[in-house]
Amino acid sequence: MLAWGRSNAHLRTSRTWWFSGMGNSDARRKPFFIGKAIMVASVVALCIIFVKQPFFKGTSQFSHHETGVVHVLVTGGAGYIGSHASLRLLKDSYRVTIVDNLSRGNLGAVKVLQELFPEPGRLQFIYADLGDRKSVNKIFSENAFDAVMHFAAVAYVGESTLEPLRYYHNITSNTLTVLEAMAAHGVKTLIYSSTCATYGQPEKMPITEATPQAPINPYGKAKKMSEDIILDFSRRSDMAVMILRYFNVIGSDPKGRLGEAPRT
Ligand SMILES: NC(=O)c1ccc[n+]([C@@H]2O[C@H](COP(=O)([O-])OP(=O)(O)OC[C@H]3O[C@@H](n4cnc5c(N)ncnc54)[C@H](O)[C@@H]3O)[C@@H](O)[C@H]2O)c1
Repeated sequence: MLAWGRSNAHLRTSRTWWFSGMGNSDARRKPFFIGKAIMVASVVALCIIFVKQPFFKGTSQFSHHETGVVHVLVTGGAGYIGSHASLRLLKDSYRVTIVDNLSRGNLGAVKVLQELFPEPGRLQFIYADLGDRKSVNKIFSENAFDAVMHFAAVAYVGESTLEPLRYYHNITSNTLTVLEAMAAHGVKTLIYSSTCATYGQPEKMPITEATPQAPINPYGKAKKMSEDIILDFSRRSDMAVMILRYFNVIGSDPKGRLGEAPRT
């Protein structure tokens, strides 16, 4: 207690001395200090304004919006459908960022795309896992996306019955992560790659969009849950969403530049 009191008393004395020193014996220095303070404040303000400029976010063309250029994030773009979608987007002059963890995809497909569109600002590949929320948020904060095409998923019905948790995590949980990142960063267009597996075993054929969705395996259920999350969110926000429910896709690029095999 004693020591505490003493040190406070000492501090008080020295503070008083400092202020009185400024006020009395060195009055001419006051304008100098004010001038210095104004200068420091101005420099700090200029730095803040400078750092907030879009160009300071990074030198990459991917990091800021550009008039007339639509930047699309393609998740799973190293995979079969995602790489073909990227090819089409690039052909149609979109700016494309592919995010893929290469768990199933084919880096060769990305290389083909890079060779076809080598110009700066056309295509970038980011190796990342959508299950890593921190990475996803970093990607969204470092890039200025206008739209997302979400293809990344594990996608085998049989495997989903053996590893249901993996499927719910990879499909449903990761879709939630992507959607939250989109909402947080003001990205307002989403195209989601769902599946006909959400229909289960319909009583009436052919299947139409009006057919009730009653999935019968974890793959279909995980996709249906993702759809529900997306639709619920879109009803309460200004996000434009489109859900694709397609059947088995086949074929390759007519010019033979990209194929179907996911691992070659
Ligand atoms: N191929 C079909 O016939 C078909 C039919 C209906 C729906 N779909 C859906 O279309 C999408 C694409 O299917 P595909 O056939 O191109 O599959 P694919 O396996 O060729 O591609 C999926 C890609 O997603 C990536 N990926 C998976 N998990 C990831 C994660 N956590 N983080 C980052 N990347 C990840 C993989 O590495 C792969 O490159 C899937 O969502 C699938 O459910 C496919």
